[in-house]
Amino acid sequence: MGMFSSKQFDSFDTLLVDQLEDLYDAEQRLTKALPKMASAAHSSTLKSAIQQHLQQTENHVTRLERVFRILGRSPQGTTCYAMKGLIEEGQEAIDATGDPDVKDAALIAAAQRVEHYEIAGYGTVRTFAERLGRSDAAQLLQETLNEEESTDKKTDADCRTERQYQGSGEINNRNRGHGLLSFAAPQPCNQSTAQARSPGL
Ligand SMILES: [Fe+2]
Repeated sequence: MGMFSSKQFDSFDTLLVDQLEDLYDAEQRLTKALPKMASAAHSSTLKSAIQQHLQQTENHVTRLERVFRILGRSPQGTTCYAMKGLIEEGQEAIDATGDPDVKDAALIAAAQRVEHYEIAGYGTVRTFAERLGRSDAAQLLQETLNEEESTDKKTDADCRTERQYQGSGEINNRNRGHGLLSFAAPQPCNQSTAQARSPGL
């Protein structure tokens, strides 16, 4: 989604194409970012989950190209500033030093933000295509949406499983019984800190 350009939306068709161009750019950026994330992952399960996501992402680029064509458009992207920012945040996790397990949790946090952005984007374009009577495009977009949702769940589930059944060791014992995502979330040090961070709770 462009932050600095002024767009003209005269029709829902125009809006649909604009959103598709955003996703096309986002997916292309991901194909370049995911190999770096996979290399940075410590856990073999996480590494393989990211590599699978890369293969899927390449298919998503191709599927978007099919969507453009059936809508009579040439595939092209418009800068997706949101994905650019999410990838920059992911780069912080890639470059981070420290405990490898904590670093993996940071990579998962970054990957899931990306996944949720994609899920929101595909849900939107799928619905726009349906409303415009383009069931052919909507069906393809639904396929990608299903894959994005299943990747999101799989990354979470695989990493939880790995953490729960890994061997002994100081770090593993410390976190036994918790998934990566469980301990990725910062825990309050004491009640007053918790209240300061979450005044509504
Ligand atoms: Fe994707």
